[in-house]
Amino acid sequence: MPAVPNGVRGAVITGWGTALPEKVLTNVDLESMMETSDEWIRDRTGIVQRHVGGTTAGLSTESGRQAIEMSGCDPADIDALILATTTPDRCVPATASTVQELLGLSCGANDLNAACSGWVYALVNAHGLIAMGANKVLVIGTDTLDRITDYTDRNTGILFGNGSGAALIEAVDGPGQLLSWDLDSVGAAESALFAEIGGVLEMEGKEVFRRAVRLMADSATKAMAAAGVDAEDITLVVPHQANIRIISASLDRLGIPLEKASIVLDRTGNTSAASVPLALAEALDENRVADGELILFVGFGAGMSAASAVVRWSPDAAESIA
Ligand code: ACO
Repeated sequence: MPAVPNGVRGAVITGWGTALPEKVLTNVDLESMMETSDEWIRDRTGIVQRHVGGTTAGLSTESGRQAIEMSGCDPADIDALILATTTPDRCVPATASTVQELLGLSCGANDLNAACSGWVYALVNAHGLIAMGANKVLVIGTDTLDRITDYTDRNTGILFGNGSGAALIEAVDGPGQLLSWDLDSVGAAESALFAEIGGVLEMEGKEVFRRAVRLMADSATKAMAAAGVDAEDITLVVPHQANIRIISASLDRLGIPLEKASIVLDRTGNTSAASVPLALAEALDENRVADGELILFVGFGAGMSAASAVVRWSPDAAESIA
């Protein structure tokens, strides 16, 4: 899978932001909605609570606004907005268009659906735009899964929640942060996890679990090989937050200790396209990665999709092109 070729115009992340709706749904709350228990959900998934409510446009506007403010860039200079989401507010138009208007941007805006891998897909797409001359791209991942989750079904209702995360990507002179990437899809497995239009998520949990562990490990391995780095070179892993046991099993396969992963799922549940940027923002806020160290992004989701990227953290926004 592709290493970023020499000489390609690169980019750095210069700002990030997050948004979670106020309303919290705890495991204990779920005990009165379906036949389950707080203990079972914690043991089998690592999730303690999730947030519900809000709209995809509203949450995206909040996380996107924070990312723009942190980067210090003029919204008028943003060249493109990519919104990764499985739960747009309407079929038409793209929710990205609503967010563009709410943020006061005047640029191209489109939704991208690659389920829980969506934000990593969008990050790679944004680097493609940068290589083609864009200077600043806003990459948001947002899902409002409560609208397609049956909270009386214990197979799915314990897992999902709402949230949003965003990053502002800016072009730099010379090589940027992205060293390599891998994007996958196994369409033959799409029946393992789907929602019909107007329907709710339906899932073969065990099949998704089995495939997720393999897909994450395979995708991350390809991205690390393309970057020419080994598992021990990675400082921080930012995985999709579906189930702590999936993260633990896939990192085991990769030979990376779980302590290197940023974990937010205990507080957020599975927020699909928002989960990777939410976990990234928390790790960056906690200064878990220093200049020159490596971050491994790895997502998987319905599709079944997978996406990985290896990034060398270099936060020097001063280098970015105005
Ligand atoms: N509460 C209490 N008991 C339960 C629950 C529940 N919510 N769900 C199942 N059980 C019971 C079962 O009935 C079964 O009981 P039995 O042994 O008497 O038959 C027992 O617990 C074990 O059930 P399993 O289905 O084997 O549970 P498992 O350990 O596989 O966990 C889970 C289920 C959490 C869904 C797991 O399979 C999983 O995480 N799968 C992946 C899901 C996922 O990641 N989806 C998102 C993909 S990303 C995207 O694109 C949205």
